Amino acid sequence: MILVAYKVRSTMLNKLLYMETFGCQMNVNDSERIVTMLADLGYAPTNDPAASDMILLNTCSVRGGAEEKVYRRLANLRIYKRDGKKQIIAVGGCVAQQEGEELLRKLPYLDLVIGTHNLHLLPEMVRGAERGERRSETTFIDNDQRLDLFPSIKGESRLSRFVTVMQGCDNFCSYCIVPFVRGREISRRSADILTEVRQLADDGVREVILLGQNVNSYGLKTESEPTFAELIRQVAEIDGIDRIRFTTSHPKDMSDELIACFGDVAKLSGQIHLPAQSGSDAVLKLMGRGYTRDSYLAKVHKIKTLRPDIVVTGDIIVGFPGETDADFEETLSLMEQVRYIDLFSFVYSPRPGTKAAELSDDLPRAVKMARLDRLMELQRRHTGEISQTYTGSVMSVLVEGEGKFPGQVSGKGEIGRIVNFPGDSSLIGSIVDVRIIKAYPNSFLGEL
Ligand code: SAH
Ligand code: SF4
Ligand code: F3S
Repeated sequence: MILVAYKVRSTMLNKLLYMETFGCQMNVNDSERIVTMLADLGYAPTNDPAASDMILLNTCSVRGGAEEKVYRRLANLRIYKRDGKKQIIAVGGCVAQQEGEELLRKLPYLDLVIGTHNLHLLPEMVRGAERGERRSETTFIDNDQRLDLFPSIKGESRLSRFVTVMQGCDNFCSYCIVPFVRGREISRRSADILTEVRQLADDGVREVILLGQNVNSYGLKTESEPTFAELIRQVAEIDGIDRIRFTTSHPKDMSDELIACFGDVAKLSGQIHLPAQSGSDAVLKLMGRGYTRDSYLAKVHKIKTLRPDIVVTGDIIVGFPGETDADFEETLSLMEQVRYIDLFSFVYSPRPGTKAAELSDDLPRAVKMARLDRLMELQRRHTGEISQTYTGSVMSVLVEGEGKFPGQVSGKGEIGRIVNFPGDSSLIGSIVDVRIIKAYPNSFLGEL
């Protein structure tokens, strides 16, 4: 869960918005957009639910129990509700998309349910709720009209910003709810993306993170748009943007053309998130991932050949229906071969309406948990070993703000990790060389 506390420039802020964000970066990005949209209605963000005039949960339903979690969280938050004064309660994100009106029926105190394609309606919905109206909007917009509804965030400049390049997903991996809650894949017009990046560069942004559920299939549905590799090259030409990252990629769409960018686009980050999900061909097939263990490893190998210093992060699902001990060993051996710097691992959780939910899932929970423990243990070792290799090395760090302790500043190195080091706040906004003196599990301590 991520607490949102963005700064918003406005003189007319007389109401308070308390928001909690769950799930992936699309939700984080949507939350940023919500903050700027609601600033126009006079709402400023707060971290105090008790003082707020509106509570909004931006939810995720990628794993089971998501609805119950929302009910529990709202029940807890409502304890704070002040007597007498109207407080708007809203649910957005993927649980909202999935449950729709049902949420309004189940929770009499809930005012608004806003789906993943309907954020543009939020201002009028909030105005209605201020007059006591309850409303749910969860219509998918799967036509070109959606191209004009892509998030473009105004407001306080920061040095690193997300830029949405595509939304939705057509992959329908057998376990995954995302295509059902985010709709069909649609790529934003490249002209709009480049205009936004140029604008951000003019505002002082130095790093852009190209965002989507599956960015590397960008443009493949539209003849007239560039491929993702071409788009990266166009973004790289924009003066002022020094770093480009992207998230998230599907290994099957990691084309040679895109891999080549790691060889010659100097602005491209030294980290890539490439979720394998499993190291077993049998499981990958059941997951409908469209690649094999060998083809995945071959792609990682090609990227590492072009960029020997690249770090790889990934996602793994443990305990997929039918996963045998041997399948699981294959996953551990894939991890040994790739050596991820960080790995997000999840126990498989059946989602209603997905293909995998129909498979028999009779592996005892204790076995799944034991596998997860082993996998996490191995990952801790890899993270520790890889992190240690950076001690003594010099990293170029984009200084983004104050550090963890007084007198420190903090930023990201090329590999995406946080680096804290003693320094003056005048360094914020610059890219400086920092020597790493200590490696922690999730960050580095350095010196200028
Ligand atoms: N589009 C991204 C993934 C979005 S979901 C991609 O393809 O990489 C983020 C992660 O949640 C997935 O990579 C997967 O590891 C995990 N996940 C998705 N559905 C799941 C399920 N039903 N059970 C457990 N983990 C799941
Ligand atoms: Fe889900 Fe697969 Fe799409 Fe990722 S690519 S969002 S895992 S269906
Ligand atoms: Fe969760 Fe929705 Fe993202 S289900 S992972 S918030 S697209």
